[in-house]
Amino acid sequence: STLRCSYSFEDYKQTADWLLAHTKQRPKVAIICGSGLGGLADLLEDKTVFPYGDIPSFPSSTVQGHAGQLVFGKLQGCECVCMKGRFHFYEGYSIHTVTYPVRVFRLLGVKTLIVTNAAGGLNAAFNVGDIMLIKDHINMPGFAGQNPLCGHNDDRFGVRFPCMSDAYDRDLRALAKKTAKEQGCNSFLQEGVYCMLAGPTYETIAESRVLQILGADAVGMSTVPEVVVARHCGLRVLGLSLITNKVVMDYESEEKANHEEVLRTTDRRTKDLQRLVGQLVCQLAAE
Ligand code: 6GU
Repeated sequence: STLRCSYSFEDYKQTADWLLAHTKQRPKVAIICGSGLGGLADLLEDKTVFPYGDIPSFPSSTVQGHAGQLVFGKLQGCECVCMKGRFHFYEGYSIHTVTYPVRVFRLLGVKTLIVTNAAGGLNAAFNVGDIMLIKDHINMPGFAGQNPLCGHNDDRFGVRFPCMSDAYDRDLRALAKKTAKEQGCNSFLQEGVYCMLAGPTYETIAESRVLQILGADAVGMSTVPEVVVARHCGLRVLGLSLITNKVVMDYESEEKANHEEVLRTTDRRTKDLQRLVGQLVCQLAAE
């Protein structure tokens, strides 16, 4: 299949209008569920479920095998829309396709985006199973020319040169910290810098050391493009990384990064993360 590298305002509008016509729900919060964290979408009540392939102009998972779903519903009584399954750059989607849903959320009237992901821990103080509030990011694919805002700028979404120094909303982070404390998640809540690499390979030892020197606390293969596009169109962003494994930093280590460990840790912490996000959605809906 050919790589789709630009979309028009009308594409996003067509998708949004179709969704607005097919659900009565008007969520103010959107959630992008990371690998192994899609269970959150199953928790919603009064669900309206749209397989990606059924949504006009929405990217569908021709590249991946298993199809994702856009799920509207109520999380602990509070309206939200959930992406169960995101589009990863390493799957072969263009960086513009990866971020397509975010502009659709904007046109649906969403104000706040919550993104979750699984990430490797670079900060020596982090433990496997920690949840890291993202306070900033390093857009490594952006360094290499893969920024989702490259190309024509549509002023209806945002400015040509958007600010990224306040990408991860301070008030939302404060709210997340307070909520985590109330839920007893305090002992495993961290805050730090997330670095995105394109993947799908995990890091070499030399690469891991580079990332640590650059100031990254966690590394993963997602999230940053969606956040860039969300900030461009004025959405508030909260990012949560689940530290699923420790990144291998020395040549003596027998440890190896592997997907199975990532999934095991995700399983172990998914309920905590779901509760935290659920509480947050409710507090945001009450605003
Ligand atoms: Cl160790 N590296 C990357 N790039 N992504 C990850 C990861 C590591 N663990 C979970 N996701």
